[in-house]
Amino acid sequence: MTQIDNHLDYLLNQKIFLIGFMGCGKSKLGKATALKLEVPFLDLDTLIETINHQSIPQLFENLGEEGFRIKEKEALQQSAMANNAIIATGGGAPCFFDNMDWMNNNGVTIFIDTPVNVLADRLINAKVERPLVKGKSYEELLDFIATKLNERRPFYEQAQIVIKEGDLNAEMLIDALTQKR
Ligand code: S3P
Repeated sequence: MTQIDNHLDYLLNQKIFLIGFMGCGKSKLGKATALKLEVPFLDLDTLIETINHQSIPQLFENLGEEGFRIKEKEALQQSAMANNAIIATGGGAPCFFDNMDWMNNNGVTIFIDTPVNVLADRLINAKVERPLVKGKSYEELLDFIATKLNERRPFYEQAQIVIKEGDLNAEMLIDALTQKR
């Protein structure tokens, strides 16, 4: 076994948390990578919806953002039950409570750092409803993303691996993971 194979073997027995702003591709990339590596895939937003029998927009509507963040933390901690999985987290998850520390202590964290204009292009065309950006024009989106990303960056940058790439695919993600020592 080479050093890289060894490292991949180690990663396959870990939880790998994908973090980053809405629209950075955590879910799509996570699914594709999990398929390639033959490990389970978990989407934190879907887990929150399943546990609470409500959609993310309904939870925001009924509990406010503060209430949603509590549900998010609870769901994140439930992911501890998975021995190994690729877990796509919501864009705000690392930025509340001790969630970022928790993820760093319970697996490998990887921040997908995507340029603001790429995020805005994806979010303006997205089919998924996201309460924080709903109804915003393209200009408003650019402003919102730039401000929020600045606020969130100190949390995201606590990730063990950072990938700066607008157009990332599963192979590139696996390369970034295996090159970590
Ligand atoms: C949020 C991101 C969303 C979802 C919720 C709040 C955020 O997840 O958790 O709408 O605060 O950035 P995605 O990053 O998967 O869109």
